[in-house]
Amino acid sequence: MPGSSFPGKQCYPAVESRDKIADPRKERPERANGQPRGVGRTPITEQSNNTSADDNGQANSTRQFLDISSLSPSTQAIHADDPLNVVDDVAPPIHVTTTFRYPREPERLRLYHERSYPIFEPTEHCYSRQSTHGTSRLEAVLSTLLKNPCVTYTSGLAAFHALVTLLNPKKVSIGAGYHGIHGTLKLHQRPTDCKILPLNCDLNELCEGDLIHLETPVNPTGRALNIQYYADRAHSRGAYLSVDSTFAPPPLQDPFQHGADFVLHSGTKYIGGHSDLLCGVLAVKQTEWLQKLLDDRLFWVQSWVSESAQRIVTALNDAVTGKQNSSLSSADAEIVRTVVKEVHHASLQTEDSQTWLKKQMPNGYGPVFSIVLRTPALAKQLPSKLHLFHHATSLGGVESLIEWRTMTDATVDKDLLRISVGVEDPKDLLGDLVQGFRAVNNRLVFFEGMRVSSVAKAFYLPNSSKYSEEHIDNDYLDI
Ligand SMILES: Cc1ncc(COP(=O)(O)O)c(C=O)c1O
Repeated sequence: MPGSSFPGKQCYPAVESRDKIADPRKERPERANGQPRGVGRTPITEQSNNTSADDNGQANSTRQFLDISSLSPSTQAIHADDPLNVVDDVAPPIHVTTTFRYPREPERLRLYHERSYPIFEPTEHCYSRQSTHGTSRLEAVLSTLLKNPCVTYTSGLAAFHALVTLLNPKKVSIGAGYHGIHGTLKLHQRPTDCKILPLNCDLNELCEGDLIHLETPVNPTGRALNIQYYADRAHSRGAYLSVDSTFAPPPLQDPFQHGADFVLHSGTKYIGGHSDLLCGVLAVKQTEWLQKLLDDRLFWVQSWVSESAQRIVTALNDAVTGKQNSSLSSADAEIVRTVVKEVHHASLQTEDSQTWLKKQMPNGYGPVFSIVLRTPALAKQLPSKLHLFHHATSLGGVESLIEWRTMTDATVDKDLLRISVGVEDPKDLLGDLVQGFRAVNNRLVFFEGMRVSSVAKAFYLPNSSKYSEEHIDNDYLDI
């Protein structure tokens, strides 16, 4: 990961890489003093007469940020997440959504797999298993207090499970401590066959990549163990030391100062502090572990009939294949055909439906389908032209969603849009799609010269070897 700083040091690490990755970032307003937006700095002035529109359209006062690492822990605990606070609420709001709308402007769409940790653009969240406003702010504060970057989990045990999954040690040396940690380690042992050794095992038994896991003070006795001693033991064999510091949260103990490679907390205890939060925290010494933990966290661990989706799919597919369909006028069908190349949905597998598919899905084919547009540029533009579809990942909600799927899935072509139909009237949804197709098509026609003729080629000569989509995209439409 580029940059070794993290929240709590000087400024956040992702900025360097982001500037390299995404031109649209350059268009975005920097903070008043030229520093990047981000964690590790907290505002020192507000100039309300010099406001800029933030990502969510809110007016965002131009603010200067001071270096949070120079402040005392009690101040850090309250202010380390200030740069991520894009609302007026004094208490951080609870967001119930599982999915977040992408920026409306196509030029600001930044593919998920091209982003790097952390999600320090306050409004760049995508899917709540990956990040939310709340978790990013919590991680910003904890990373500052623990003095190393951290990832939060749904429980302390989940954090420990993440740790052993990350390292996949052949041997774990572990002593007395919370029984749940031992239970989790046994679960990890099932698929991995890792060997569990006592804390004071023969040192020669430990090898490179193995783990000593120390709990101190120990649950339930409160007895303390010497962190530096076990760090030296681990490092002398090329192994790692993780410390469960749940019983001694900051500022009582900083295991990193005494050689720990990982620090774990059951955030359910002192970090939550009110017995109303289940949470795990894993802080890491080496920042390159961070991205892996976040990737792993993303992948940790309905059928409903949609007559509406079926109607929309059929109407679009009929237009594309030149069949009459009462849901669309001939002018609308023409515009669909101009923009849409293919429609995919189980309901269109006519051969399969005569053999096995109808038996397998007797009650309908589900509310998700995809459309392939004639160029990636059209696919990128379309979501911003729609009024009834949120441009967001995920599916299965009552709200209709559309996603330029390459935003989160690097394996699909860039001309594909995935649609999850919600409970809105299908007539309205189809109307919205058609006006969107018209809008993107008009936009292209509106541009004169090469773009118009290139699109005409795309439509009339889709198989011509002279026509190259990349040519259009790179030269004219900035995909
Ligand atoms: C020392 C210690 N570590 C880890 C855990 C597990 O944390 P959680 O209950 O948040 O999963 C506990 C729980 O009591 C604990 O006491």
